[in-house]
Parts: sequence; structure tokens; C-alpha cells
Amino acid sequence: MPYSGLNLDGMVALVTGSGRGIGEALAVGLAQAGADVAVSDLPAGMAEASGVQARIEDLGRRSAAYQMDVQIIEEINTGIVRVVEEFGRLDILVNNAGIRRRQAAVEVTEEDWDAVISTNLKGTFFCSQAAARHMIPQGYGRIINIASQLAVVAGENRAAYCASKGGVASLTQVLALEWIQHGITVNAIGPGPTETPGLLAADSRSPEELDQDLTAHMPLGRRMRPEELVGAAVYLASPSAGATTGHLLIVDGGWTAR
Ligand SMILES: NC(=O)c1ccc[n+]([C@@H]2O[C@H](COP(=O)([O-])OP(=O)(O)OC[C@H]3O[C@@H](n4cnc5c(N)ncnc54)[C@H](O)[C@@H]3O)[C@@H](O)[C@H]2O)c1
Repeated sequence: MPYSGLNLDGMVALVTGSGRGIGEALAVGLAQAGADVAVSDLPAGMAEASGVQARIEDLGRRSAAYQMDVQIIEEINTGIVRVVEEFGRLDILVNNAGIRRRQAAVEVTEEDWDAVISTNLKGTFFCSQAAARHMIPQGYGRIINIASQLAVVAGENRAAYCASKGGVASLTQVLALEWIQHGITVNAIGPGPTETPGLLAADSRSPEELDQDLTAHMPLGRRMRPEELVGAAVYLASPSAGATTGHLLIVDGGWTAR
């Protein structure tokens, strides 16, 4: 018989930015573990989000797709209220929506800086706040922030991104301290390089440069697949993780072990 502490039957999850990439894999993975899962994305990602909704429904779980730009606080608040109204509760929030801009520090504009910090850090905070308003009265919640291995080690040409993910790691600890008294745990996952549409689009390096980078930094010897993050998310989303809070779980193919 499977270990029941990892079973998410009866739980309701929301994954931000889940039309594709890591968010899609986590939304489907949480559904495979038993949760009903609300999918959300930008307007441009809604067609993909509907496809993810259909994948979740094919698993026999309930799903819906919501437009939710995590840079717009009103849209966050409205979206989370709709999830609670339509699904009856919210147990698990995965703050996955994020962007990257690869550029030398001297070339970062104010617009670049604001877009990255606003999506990755501010969005994570205000989604967590909106979710906690529902989780606190129910006395239970699981918040999982998708940080990066670059929350703890530097990446060249990633000033705003590394600052945003370091901020997410710190925020994870603060919210963990504040909300554990309400039965809410707040943890983060730090993925290493993972093959997603966003990563591929942002990477202008040649295959040779990429090979050199992976050989130098990635003991795993390849980029990760989004599905390789699902087990970590299911654990942190599960009842069995009730004493695990404020933790950054690095899943990076050994990148930071060097
Ligand atoms: N792929 C990697 O190598 C890697 C490594 C470490 C951390 N991460 C983090 O994982 C998360 C997902 O990355 P990915 O590689 O799957 O990216 P991706 O670009 O493939 O997918 C990101 C999704 O987020 C959505 N999104 C972007 N801005 C949004 C906003 N303002 N509001 C709502 N949705 C928004 C996009 O539309 C897209 O569907 C990000 O937080 C990223 O920083 C990725």
C-alpha cells in the first residue's frame, strides 16, 4: 500500500504560470498525487493553460484555468477568491510564475529590473498573502515557492534574476515563521537548469557553449526535465511535510554541490 502521507486526495491546489514548463509539470504532478488543481497564466498563456486543464481532467481530477498576471495585485486577489469560491477551499499554492532576462549588469535597464523583481519576488509575495487570507481561517496550507539554485549561488549576467530568487528564499523563511502557527508551511524549491520553453527561448548560446557550461557546472551532465521536480513538490504539498517549513529544497543535478 502506498505511504498515505503523500496522498493529496481532497486537496485543492493553485499553480501560477502553469500553462507550460515547470508550472505545467507541477500542476499535472499534483493532480496525479490526488489534488484538484487550478491552472493560471497570463492572457497569452491561456490557450496552453486550457490544455493543461484538460490533461488534469483526463486524470479524473477537477480543474479550471484562470487568467492571473502575478504582477497585478487585483488580478491575484480576484483569481484566488474565484478558486476558493469555485473549488470550496485552497490548500496548496505553488508560486511558479517567473521570468528571466540574461544580460550584463551594466546593461540592465530600470524596466528590466522592475519586470523581473515584480514577477518573481513581488508576485510571489502577493499571491502568498492572498492565499494566506483563506488558509489562515481554515488552519491549514502549503505554500511552495519556485526559487532557483541561483538563490544561493551567483550566475553571471543574472543580476536581477539572482536578486529576485535570493529574495524569494528569504521571503520563504519570513512567511514560514509568521504562518506556522496557523498550520501553514512555506517552503521553496531551487531547480537547476531545466528544459522548458522559457529557458530555451532565453538562451542564445550555441550548442557548443551550452555543452561547455553543462560540463563545467552540471554534475548531472544534462539539463533536468520538469517532471524531475514533481516529487519534491508533492512532498512539500503533502500532509507529511507539516514540520518542514522555511526550507529551500535544492533540486539542481548537483550544480551547487561543487
Ligand atoms: N527552467 C529553468 O531552468 C529554471 C531553473 C530555476 C528556476 N526556474 C523557475 O521556474 C519557474 C518556471 O520557469 P520555466 O522555466 O518553466 O519558465 P517558462 O517561461 O517556460 O514558463 C513560465 C510560465 O509563467 C508564465 N508567466 C510569466 N510571467 C507571468 C506573470 N506575470 N503572471 C503569470 N504567469 C506568468 C508564462 O506565461 C509561462 O507559462 C520560474 O519561476 C523560473 O524562474 C526555472
